[in-house]
Amino acid sequence: MNQETQAIRIQAERSQYKEHSVPLYLTSSYAFDDAEEMRALFAEEKDGNIYSRYSNPNVQELIDKMCALEKSEDGWATASGMAAVYTVFASLLSAGDHIVSCRSVFGSTHRLLTEFLPRWNITSTYVDFDQYDEYAQVIQENTKLVYIETPSNPGLDIIDIEKLATICKNKNVLLIVDNCFATPIIQQPILFGADIVIHSATKYIDGQGRTLGGIILSTKEIINKVEAFAKQTGPCLSPFNAWVLSKSIELLPLRMERHSSNALSIAKKLEENNHVKWVKYPHLKSHPQYEIAKKQMKWGGGIVTFEIEGGLQAGRNFLDKLQLFSLTANLGDTRSIATHPASTTHSKLSSAQREEVGISDGLIRLSIGLESLEDIWMDVEQALK
Ligand SMILES: Cc1ncc(COP(=O)(O)O)c(C=O)c1O
Repeated sequence: MNQETQAIRIQAERSQYKEHSVPLYLTSSYAFDDAEEMRALFAEEKDGNIYSRYSNPNVQELIDKMCALEKSEDGWATASGMAAVYTVFASLLSAGDHIVSCRSVFGSTHRLLTEFLPRWNITSTYVDFDQYDEYAQVIQENTKLVYIETPSNPGLDIIDIEKLATICKNKNVLLIVDNCFATPIIQQPILFGADIVIHSATKYIDGQGRTLGGIILSTKEIINKVEAFAKQTGPCLSPFNAWVLSKSIELLPLRMERHSSNALSIAKKLEENNHVKWVKYPHLKSHPQYEIAKKQMKWGGGIVTFEIEGGLQAGRNFLDKLQLFSLTANLGDTRSIATHPASTTHSKLSSAQREEVGISDGLIRLSIGLESLEDIWMDVEQALK
């Protein structure tokens, strides 16, 4: 089956009511026919639902769809993207282990790596995203995982997944890819050799800014370890959010195509605007990793970043002038969203620290929505004047 069909047709088993659209199984626990069935399920001699911290038909439907789309053997859904990141680390690492990560990671992932994991004696080393030899050099005996985001948030740096996966395989460490910006419609890291894919489903998987969610996709062997930890610690996704997310995926292929075509058009128009210093978009020829983006990404995705002339104040003025765009701390919505990382998400870093992760003072991140292209551009253009 093609992805468009999988996104629509993979669904939970029909109930005795023969509903066409999958119902919401909002239940904490499940009933057993008799004591013997209850015993067999608890003894894991029989498959079935026991309790919604362990499994739920809506959650399973979401996992099944994401496995098909990402070409993974198995998966586990979590309450948020950060729950997915934390659950992967906690399931696979022990005290004394080490992680190698690309430097430009999402802010909460950065704090998890640098503030919290060291409490349990799990350390990490950052590498500039494209220093492939350095990834190999800093992998030490206790390194268990290499963690990357591609495209990165908000810098849109692109890492060659296939190249890094080969390095990781040679060194016998697992490669984890946060595929939040691309989604499996645009990029399938497992096909390029990644071992684990994680998502903040809060972004494009929902696509309408309604629910939080996360997902971990990998082999059965790895997901068994994730499941063992998650069942006892409870970072599970709510059935309601799973139902929303699974419905949203039905339109994910269509949405990603339109997000990408709108974003490419906006990126091209920005390149021609004289208030703009530079524009970054994966499928623009001027992107420093354009060739890698073309190889591993079907389209360029919905995020465009650019540097406005005039630095920090010009960035804030641009946001204030926008009328259609929302100013909000999310991305991947049908509604176009603008953010100014230097004065918001990354304001606690010094200017020099921000530069290190590719965030200049005038950098604007646009999450291009599904409104009319003409209206999106009209708003951007008037705010640049
Ligand atoms: C790339 C990336 N990874 C992970 C997360 C965390 O996801 P959540 O907010 O669902 O916990 C985000 C959130 O913005 C993100 O952009």
